[in-house]
Amino acid sequence: MATRHFLTLLDLTPEELAYLIRRAISIKNGLKTHGPTYTPFTNRTLAMIFEKSSTRTRVSFETAMAQFGGHALFLSPRDTQLGRGEPIEDTARVLSEMVDAVMIRTFSHAGLEAFAKASTVPVVNALTDDYHPCQLLADVMTWTERRGAVKGKTAVWIGDGNNMCHSWINAARQFDFQLRVCCPEGYDPAPEILNAAGDRVTLLRDPQEAVIDAHLVTTDVWASMGQEEEQAQRERAFTGFQVNEAMLDKAADEVVFLHCLPAHRGEEISETLLDDPRAVVWQEAGNRLHAQKALLEFLLLGRVES
Ligand code: CP
Ligand code: NVA
Repeated sequence: MATRHFLTLLDLTPEELAYLIRRAISIKNGLKTHGPTYTPFTNRTLAMIFEKSSTRTRVSFETAMAQFGGHALFLSPRDTQLGRGEPIEDTARVLSEMVDAVMIRTFSHAGLEAFAKASTVPVVNALTDDYHPCQLLADVMTWTERRGAVKGKTAVWIGDGNNMCHSWINAARQFDFQLRVCCPEGYDPAPEILNAAGDRVTLLRDPQEAVIDAHLVTTDVWASMGQEEEQAQRERAFTGFQVNEAMLDKAADEVVFLHCLPAHRGEEISETLLDDPRAVVWQEAGNRLHAQKALLEFLLLGRVES
């Protein structure tokens, strides 16, 4: 089997992505029914390179490997030769000799691509400055669990045109739903990513208008990791872009609210939004575990129909 990587949602076909969502739901149900008795990764190792902080991603990948009978290695640049300037391609070649897959959270998406090019084992993007595709697997899974098929529905992105926004744009393409992206001027997603989505994605400026009749509303922090020094300037630029309960009232009755987390209450969301029953963010966070199990299983073992 040729090595497959997961650097963006475009690395898998729509049909493969639909399979992953079905499989993730099935793996989750199996875990609930039988406990962690399915161990297809006995003696397999996942290397996890984290150049940025993480709670959910680290815990979900590490737990996925443990429950599947394998092992996960946490590697930070502070403690490895990566931090002392060993080329990423050399690191990729070395890890390929020892582990079965590599997960990377880093800054530069081009750096991740260079790593994947040199790797002979599957490489998974666990967030770059440009994309966060693993989060979208969990997000689409959560939306599907709550409301059924997402095809043809309308999602709304409110806020920064960041890595999460880019992955939502790719998700609209791959899962065939409409996406309204609503950002303040100057914080739009990358034009090439937006344009490639064609008429599946529309760019709006007024959040109050963007949410009307939407089936899903989502947002993210205004200053991502690496942009901490822009916090004050961004808080000014994003005035009026806070998602709150009154905004969700304008959406469809069946609207769900997602947030990849961590959330900043009082900034991109109101203080109480995560307590609203329309917010399903804890289920969304938990689904990282199941969605990434399905992804790793697919990359290492191929399809397991169930
Ligand atoms: N949503 C997400 O990726 O969270 P972490 O940064 O905690 O991994
Ligand atoms: N856009 C955020 C997502 C965190 C999961 C960041 O990159 O910091």
